[in-house]
Formats: sequence, structure tokens, C-alpha cells
Amino acid sequence: MCGIVGYIGNKKTQDVLLNGLKDLEYRGYDSAGIALLEQDNIEVCKAVGKVDNLRNELKKINNKNYKIGIGHTRWATHGKPTYENAHPHLGEYSYVVHNGIIENYKQIKEELLKDGHIFISQTDTEVIVHLFENYNNKLNNIKEAFKKTIKKLKGAYSILLITKEHKNKIFFFKSGSPLIVAKGKEKGEVLFSSTDSPLIGLSNDVVYLEDEVGGIASSKGIEFFNDNYKWSTLPTSKESAQKDGFDFFMEKEIYEQSDVSNDCMIGRLQDDEILFDEIDSNILEDINEIKLCACGTSYHAALASSYLFERLSKIRTSVEIASEFRYKKPLLSKQTLFIVVSQSGETADSLEALKMAKKEGLKTLVICNANNSSMTRLANISILARAGIEKGVASTKAFSTQTIVLWMISLYFAKIKNNISKEKLAEEIQTLRQVPKALIVNNTIHEKIKRLSKRYLHGHGFFFIGRDIFFPLALEGALKLKEISYLHAEGYPAGEMKHGPIALVDSELFTIALMPQNLLYDKIKSNVEELSARDSTICTISPLNFDLSDDFIKTQKAKHYMLEFFEMLVVLQLLSLEIAIRLKNDVDMPRNLAKSVTVE
Ligand code: F6R
Repeated sequence: MCGIVGYIGNKKTQDVLLNGLKDLEYRGYDSAGIALLEQDNIEVCKAVGKVDNLRNELKKINNKNYKIGIGHTRWATHGKPTYENAHPHLGEYSYVVHNGIIENYKQIKEELLKDGHIFISQTDTEVIVHLFENYNNKLNNIKEAFKKTIKKLKGAYSILLITKEHKNKIFFFKSGSPLIVAKGKEKGEVLFSSTDSPLIGLSNDVVYLEDEVGGIASSKGIEFFNDNYKWSTLPTSKESAQKDGFDFFMEKEIYEQSDVSNDCMIGRLQDDEILFDEIDSNILEDINEIKLCACGTSYHAALASSYLFERLSKIRTSVEIASEFRYKKPLLSKQTLFIVVSQSGETADSLEALKMAKKEGLKTLVICNANNSSMTRLANISILARAGIEKGVASTKAFSTQTIVLWMISLYFAKIKNNISKEKLAEEIQTLRQVPKALIVNNTIHEKIKRLSKRYLHGHGFFFIGRDIFFPLALEGALKLKEISYLHAEGYPAGEMKHGPIALVDSELFTIALMPQNLLYDKIKSNVEELSARDSTICTISPLNFDLSDDFIKTQKAKHYMLEFFEMLVVLQLLSLEIAIRLKNDVDMPRNLAKSVTVE
């Protein structure tokens, strides 16, 4: 997730762009850059790190009044957060900024290299500007060159491009990643942004571009390539715009999960293959065991994946809580692949565990959401979750993307080990492709949860129960509720209840039961019946009606238990959210918690 801005007009362009980028900084701050155009002169300024670094760099260059410019704040996906990889990217005479991922960039790059183009970055973005110039050099028709470029790109992206060949124009296109084009309040002004927020105060009229819509803007007007656009009025509250109109970042992030799950899979799923550029195919040589290590929500993603590593890759797998692992004097073997899962890449306990494993000579792999973090710098291999910046302290989209990445890795390993049939692999990949749909928030279910949440504000606690991979999901549901509602909640494997916890059950003890159709349905059904017999108040989440429930949240029937897993995840997140809202808690910054736990 990156942020892009563009401006045509008489205001000081560099200031408009910098202010816009500052507003978009939450979308990524690995580096920032702008390109300004004036006659034959393109001025470019980039800086690693936050937008303030760019602001300082800009002070060093001339202070002309440019009439046109584009800007970018980066959340690295391809290539490290370096100066070379910072946008805008240059061809011979044009610059581009890009938000999203170009899936087929390698193939395009190979073709362009043959045509003599020289690349200086490791990004997927750089191919866009070279491809554009390649077409333009051949066709000598800038509009056609831009259209042909767009046609060739695969993936999810939005782009802004400026060129010395047409000094007063910005070329734009949206396919999958957000982009807004706006008329400024002054005559001839045009603005672009990834979200509403930078435009507020500067514009009233905007087009939220649909996919596959693009065009060319200049101070004389905006030309769209097709009719699929409509002008709307811009909201006026900046704070609400930053949250995309949601009341809380956590809610926005729950709703974002469908989109970011797509980002997380782009380029990694190809036809019936799983590809990880980051992993060598000899990774499992001499490896006979996987050990996963993490804290909190990331631990739950790790635990969930352990079912998949054993079931699909058929590799012995164990999972450790990082704070425990550090002091238990673990016996480590070089035949173990050590995987750390972390949203921030800075959690002290997980980082120390990673250092211990490295020191013992183990191969290390980190699944992380922050590219330039301590863990990605330390591990032998790092794979990004691509969830985009998570602002809500209670983690949501990091969990879903981590789980998806781990599931993909388990299939990748299964293939390397020859432990999965072609048909089974194809079926799993087909299911992965349906995950973004399973993660879409169902409005009817959200409304139902809003209503039923009022019945869960008291009592003496919650049991979240599930079996198999739905047990880590139950743990995650309980953790979410604890974190933001401050109510006591425990996650349990449903089969464990009769071994002790059932003693707590009465009508004031709420059970949230995960009852997927595709995995051990009859087993969990009997466990829930046992609780019902002891008068627990039961809320079941299932695609199948269950007579003994006091509350019932009906999920969709699906062919694969993992699709049920992700739909139920959203239900659990919304349940915690709505209970916390009713209790008037600070959802995004719950008491006693911090987003990144860098102390022991
Ligand atoms: C819960 C939550 C925490 C983190 C944990 C690990 O919502 O956010 O439990 O998951 O502190 O943090 P990371 O993943 O950054 O290592």
C-alpha cells in the first residue's frame, strides 16, 4: 500500500504535493519523492524514510513555481526501502508514480532489457515508465503509447505519469488500487490522490475512479478514456476521510481485509503454481522440521498454520510463544527451519528468539508486515504480508494476511517435497483465490452483530471454542474481545471443555462456538450440546442451523474449511468491535496496550 498525489495549477506545486503526501503517510513511509515539471526541466527529489525527510531535501533544490507535479509515499513490496527504489521512477524523459503491484513486471523487464532499456531500481514500477517510452519511441503517439502500456500491465495498480513530451499533462489510470481525480477550487486546477483526505479543502468535485478507467488531465480539462465515471461531492471532515468514513481505524481495517488479501497473493499465485521470489527452491534441503515462533495475534496465525504445514506439506511442525521460547533453553537442531511471524518486525521477544535461532545456525524465515524492520534485516529470508499499515492497536488485517502467506508457504513446501498431488494443489490454489470474497464484510451479518452485541455486555466471561484450525481462530476471537472490550474471554479447543473449564458454565457464561460445516462438525456439535445442557448462553457461528443456540450467526456454505475460517474471522472481529463500541471503549487505542511491543 503506497500513497500517490498529483497537482496541476498555480499554487506552489511542491507544497500541495508535500501536504498531500503527509496526509497519506499512514499508507507507507519507507521513502517519499516528487517530480516537478516546468518547460524542459523535470526536477526530482526523493528521500528515504518519512515525508519530513523529503521536505528537508526539497529545501536544498531551487524554489521555482512549478505548474505540474506528481508525488509518492512508499510501502515497499518489491525491493528494499532505498533511494533508488523510491518513486518517482524515471525513463529517458518521463516519470511515473505507482500504487499497487505489477504482476508481470519480470517478463516486461526482460523484453525491455533486450530493447536496450537500462533499469536502476529493483521495483516493479520502473517497467511502467520504460514500457511507455518504448511504445512512444516506436509509435510517436503519446496517448496510444500510454494506452498500450496500460493494456500490457497485469496486477492491481494506479499510476500517474508525466513526460517532457507533453509538458502540461498528467496521464492517469486506475486498475485495482484506489485513485481519485479532483477539480480544484481555482480555475484550471486538477488534483489526484489515493484517498479523500489530501483533497479536503482544495476541491469540492471528485471522481472516485472505477477500475479500468484512466485519462489525461491538463489545466484545460480532464479527458477520460471512457464514460465510466461520475462526479461526486467531496466530504468535508478530514478526520473521517482518514478513516475512509469509518468511525475507527480497526473497523476500516476489518473492511480492508478483502483488498489486502488480494495484494498479498498478487504475483504469488500463478495459474496452478505458487511462486515466492524470496525463497530458493533448495530451502528444505536438510530440513526435517519447522518451528514457528511469535507473540499474540501473530502467534495465533502461526498456530493456525501449523495445522497446514503438517497436513499439506507433511513436515513435522511445532509452535512456540516467543517469550517462553527465550528462556526454556530450547534444544535446537540445524535441520529445523525457524519461522518468526510478526506484524511490526520489532516485537522484542520475537526478535530475541530470532537472534537465538540464528546464532545456533538455523535457517530463519520471517513473515512480516514492515519491510525495513529489525526482523526483516536479520532473517535469512523475509516475506512481506502486504497488509498495509495497521493503525488499530488490535490487529486484524495483519492476522488474515499472515495466515494467507503461511498457507501459501505450506503449499509451496508441499510441492517442493513432492507431498501434494497436482489436483490437490490446484484445488487449494483455487480456494486461495476465493479468500478475498470470504473476507468481504457481509452487511446483513454486520447489522445483526450490532444488534446482538447488546446481550453480551455483562456476565462473568466468554468461552470461544473451536476444533482443529478453528481452535487458534477461537484464541484470536477471545484475544480481540479481551483487548478492546476488557471483558474476560478464553479460547479453548472445544474437546477440552469437559476436562475442567465446563465447571465454570452457567447462564451468565457466554460461549461463542465456531461450527464450520467442513471440519469436524459433528464433534464440535456434541461439545456445544454439552455446554447447552449446563445452561451456557450460546452464540453459534455456522452455515448450518443449530437449534440449541441462543444467538445464531449464519455464515455462507463454502466448499473448503479455510473459506469458512476467514468468514468466521470477520464475524469474530466485528463482534469484539461492536461490544467495545457499546461499552464506549477507545477501540483504536485500548487501555494498557501499545501497537509495537519493543520491551520484554
Ligand atoms: C493483538 C496484537 C498483539 C500482537 C503482538 C505481536 O491484537 O496486536 O497481540 O500480535 O504484540 O506483535 P507483532 O505481530 O508486531 O510481533
